[in-house]
Amino acid sequence: DKRLKVLDAAIKRHQYQQDALIEILHKAQELFGFLENDLLLYIAHQLKLPPSRVYGVATFYHLFSLAPQGVHSCVVCTGTACYVKGAPAILADLEKSTHIHAGETTPDGELSLLTARCLGACGIAPAVVFDGEVAGHQTPALVNERVQGWLK
Ligand code: FES
Repeated sequence: DKRLKVLDAAIKRHQYQQDALIEILHKAQELFGFLENDLLLYIAHQLKLPPSRVYGVATFYHLFSLAPQGVHSCVVCTGTACYVKGAPAILADLEKSTHIHAGETTPDGELSLLTARCLGACGIAPAVVFDGEVAGHQTPALVNERVQGWLK
């Protein structure tokens, strides 16, 4: 999983510092959409922290979510490479067609719309993650088609 490699790189960049836990949880949520059990255990292991501490932090802050919010998730990368190649238009279009903003879930619970800063897929920018699968060279039309299929 490419996302795990990006997370590993972030952990390494923080030199496995336990103080960086919140930043690493942020990065993990950005990459995976939510913090599932295995992911929290993995982070605890990498930082040599007791899992209880990692769970404590992840549940204390409201900005972290431990379960997927919508049935489906769509993560638009807004990192530099994707931004330059049209991510803002993709996001604006999606927000318009789904009537939700990034970080929100549709009222019927079908779709969560999220953004990430860099998914490590700059070579295929603009990148969008549909239910955990990275797709490259996206356009507003392509993304909308995919998402509308979920909303019917
Ligand atoms: Fe989007 Fe790197 S900036 S994948």
